[in-house]
Amino acid sequence: MPHDGHALDLLDALLSAPPPEPELSEVGHVVEVGDGIAIVAGLARALTDEMLDFGSGLSGIVFDLEPDRLGVVLLGPTASVVPGADVRRTGRVVSVPVGAALLGRVVDALGRPRDGGDAPADLPLRPIETEAPGILDRAPVARPLATGLKAVDAAVPVGKGQRELIIGDRQTGKTSIAIDTILNQKDTGVLCVYCAIGQRGDAVAKAVGAIRDGGMAEGTIVVTAGDEEAPGLSWVAPYAAMAMAEALAAGARDVLIVFDDLTHHAHSYRELSLLLRRPPGREAFPGDIFYVHARLLERAGQFGPGAGGGSITALPVVETQAENLSAYIPTNLISITDGQIYLSPRLVRRNQFPAVDLGVSVSRVGGKAQARAFRDVAGNLRVTLSQFEELEEFARFGTRLDEGTRKRLSRGAAVRAALRQPERAPMPADEQLAVLLAAMEGLLDGLDEGAAMAAMEAIRTAVRGAGDATRDLIASGRPLAPEDRGRILDLARQALAEAGHGTDA
Ligand SMILES: Nc1ncnc2c1ncn2[C@@H]1O[C@H](COP(=O)(O)OP(=O)(O)O)[C@@H](O)[C@H]1O
Ligand SMILES: [Mg+2]
Repeated sequence: MPHDGHALDLLDALLSAPPPEPELSEVGHVVEVGDGIAIVAGLARALTDEMLDFGSGLSGIVFDLEPDRLGVVLLGPTASVVPGADVRRTGRVVSVPVGAALLGRVVDALGRPRDGGDAPADLPLRPIETEAPGILDRAPVARPLATGLKAVDAAVPVGKGQRELIIGDRQTGKTSIAIDTILNQKDTGVLCVYCAIGQRGDAVAKAVGAIRDGGMAEGTIVVTAGDEEAPGLSWVAPYAAMAMAEALAAGARDVLIVFDDLTHHAHSYRELSLLLRRPPGREAFPGDIFYVHARLLERAGQFGPGAGGGSITALPVVETQAENLSAYIPTNLISITDGQIYLSPRLVRRNQFPAVDLGVSVSRVGGKAQARAFRDVAGNLRVTLSQFEELEEFARFGTRLDEGTRKRLSRGAAVRAALRQPERAPMPADEQLAVLLAAMEGLLDGLDEGAAMAAMEAIRTAVRGAGDATRDLIASGRPLAPEDRGRILDLARQALAEAGHGTDA
């Protein structure tokens, strides 16, 4: 065949040219519009998850693809959409601005400022859905992520890269635990993303205020999709927040992300699916709700050296009704995560805050990340408390108690009191260790609630005044040697004697 220079030139030109743009001139129209959704026709080439432009800043996501029409989730108010209006393809999936410039800001589910400030300029965009890192890009959870809460750090320890569910009925302190954990990241270098889903505006304002008052505003991005906004925004919010967390973690940083809460997220997804007439499954949730949450939480983890070495620790929150842990969404999330912190209304009624029920709470991977000395003190905590509660139950029947039983009851009560902690008061690990050791060894036996609180304060002050020995012990990963135990207990005894709570223990 003769050489045809012309054809080769053409081939060169084709190969070096950028790929063809999707035909953005494609315009369809709204057929029908309902609460948070629209049916669109005339965009035969649109793809699933593609973002559509409804004009005047409103966008939507292609949710259902049918031969002649699209089911579209609106990412803004429905009121501005009328049947017959133009809809344009964008050729892109939904992306949000990401980057460290968002720290200190409150943004909506599309990354637009909600704090009255200007949008940071020139931020890179990142698709809200990405594939989770594969097994080869991951490393085991091995470093603690301290919550600053004794009941959690001692008995349900969380590790960096772990996914730990916070679960309980309403008003049991779920949000409080999440916010306190964020506050405890002050001066640790861990960056935080707090994603509020379907909450009322005043609840979000309260969380933002607590983060600011605790000095963590500059280390936190708040992403909010409120209950008065389009359900589509609630649906995309956790994915958008995760994209922001991934961008922070890509700089080899440790990131903590809170989803508060995924019950509201599941409800938005159910609402959208029912409006778009997807067939409902169990409890009227669409059949893929498990996958919707699994693929979100899979993106958390401790990443290996090949993947930057950062980590994303996820604390999803889920609200139960009447303590029903076996409802569909809670069981899904329990099976997706690496453990759960269960908050019990029974403990709330007794004013035992944080209301962590140690009998039902577990941390499947965090124990390996807990410092050895801390584990040596806290290891028996769960057993001590459950034996005490059994005994307490029994003692309620007025049975006459012998001296040994009375002693055990008073020890159990002291240990339970030692786990009490007010909100917004995260406690460093060395102080936690000293307080718990003192309680387990009987130094707080027989004190009433007020006296126990004062005694714990005295011990904490003594630990702070005694230098870095206990902190260094925890950081070293050494076991708790008898001399460490003796030193800490001496310190505590002396503090109690000085504060007038001397015991003869
Ligand atoms: N450690 C605590 N000490 C005292 N009160 C607490 C504590 N944690 C939470 N609370 C109170 O319990 C109530 C419910 O807390 P919240 O975190 O909003 O619960 P949830 O998110 O489960 O609905 C709030 O009034 C809060 O102030
Ligand atoms: Mg809450």
